[in-house]
Amino acid sequence: MSEGLVRSIRGMSDLLPPESGVFAFIESEMRRVFALYGFREIRTPILEETTLFARAVGEETDIVGKEMYTFTDRDGTSLTLRPEGTASAVRAYIEHGMDRNDPVARWFYTGPMFRHERPQKGRFRQFHQIGAEVFGLQDPHIDAELIHMLASFIRELGVEGVSLRLNSLGCDKCRPAFREALNIFLKRVEDSLCDDCRKRMTLNPLRVLDCKKEKCISVTMDAPSATDHLCDECSSHFKGVTHVLSAFGVDWEADKRMVRGLDYYSRTTFELLATAPGAEVGSQNAIAGGGRYDNLVEMLGGRPTPAVGFAIGMERLAMLLGGKAGLNDRPVKIFVMSAGSGTLSLAANLVSGLRKLNIATEFDGSERGFKAKFKRADKSGAGFAVVIGENEMEKSVCVVKSMSEIPLADGKKQIEVPLSGAAEVILKMLSERGNQ
Ligand code: HAM
Repeated sequence: MSEGLVRSIRGMSDLLPPESGVFAFIESEMRRVFALYGFREIRTPILEETTLFARAVGEETDIVGKEMYTFTDRDGTSLTLRPEGTASAVRAYIEHGMDRNDPVARWFYTGPMFRHERPQKGRFRQFHQIGAEVFGLQDPHIDAELIHMLASFIRELGVEGVSLRLNSLGCDKCRPAFREALNIFLKRVEDSLCDDCRKRMTLNPLRVLDCKKEKCISVTMDAPSATDHLCDECSSHFKGVTHVLSAFGVDWEADKRMVRGLDYYSRTTFELLATAPGAEVGSQNAIAGGGRYDNLVEMLGGRPTPAVGFAIGMERLAMLLGGKAGLNDRPVKIFVMSAGSGTLSLAANLVSGLRKLNIATEFDGSERGFKAKFKRADKSGAGFAVVIGENEMEKSVCVVKSMSEIPLADGKKQIEVPLSGAAEVILKMLSERGNQ
């Protein structure tokens, strides 16, 4: 007796065609664009010791406090499925001695992240990020260049209607004054804050500005901002970032409330928001977020090393892209079919020849009739079908048939092509058609 269907876990989806094609398209553009900025790929394990995230992301954050997938391993170690990629990148950076031997590194990564949030449109429990981190460089040029890379990646993908928000959270020197001013303000509005925020007030008052509850947002509308309390160094760093952004022609808006959901930031923070009307990525409209984290390498046991980075949510990006990225979704260009004794090896030859020329080819040399094979060819999305039956074998030809309304040479829907050199002829026909 059946015990019922096993389903995927809530908030964790399968990625099937055509969506998987959109992800592949985003990843191939990621590799192309990021290489132009000198970034190289890292791959780290998706499981880490829980203390890594507790120390890096911060005990008081929602991520560590409420959202981590944590379990005890067989040897009693507490492990966590990574909720983000920065902590792992920093751990790897230190573990491989980069901070001592080769401090400047530009890394990127992509892969699944896990957060036990309430699933809704644009928010999942397993989601994918593309991240980039720069280590060992302090200059504001680096923050700006990284933001520029993010902006051009998004533009190259063809996404429009996004807005870049920028803030500075200051450093260890100037943040205490900001915290103090924020505390005084929060005490005045304490009674109107939610229970969580009242707790946050004592543990980490900045987190109150990150609360998503409408009431808390409205009562903290006039809260003091970090940018009003920046020391001279932080202030000139912030100006430097905006100066270089202008030189690159990147538009931005100041967002004094942006504290980000992770505790490791200092100085620059930024978010890329979907703002176009109808740009539906759910209640959360942040496509990407990032900033500087100059203390994190040292906090995790490495040498003091400045760093800055960002991460993009791939599901949200894919939603914004919609149909625009369906490009990768019709991989098959040619459908070869054969039937009849002796035809199989001729067809196999042609199929190998086509694939050698990098033409994606599907092949059906089964006993099924041509009618069924044409049905399959139609579904495959191939532009041409190539037929080799006994008639064709006798004449040493194959028949190339257009699978769309677009005719072949001389306005015909199908033509005979000599089998010798057929792969090259088909390649030429494909390129004449713009590879469709
Ligand atoms: P984050 O803002 O927590 O930053 O996440 C970055 C992006 O991941 C978000 O803007 C959003 O697009 C996506 N994202 C986050 N949570 C979810 C979810 N539950 N479902 C779908 N998408 C989600 C970080 O993770 C930092 N590590 C970024 C960074 C890198 N900072 C410095 N370097």
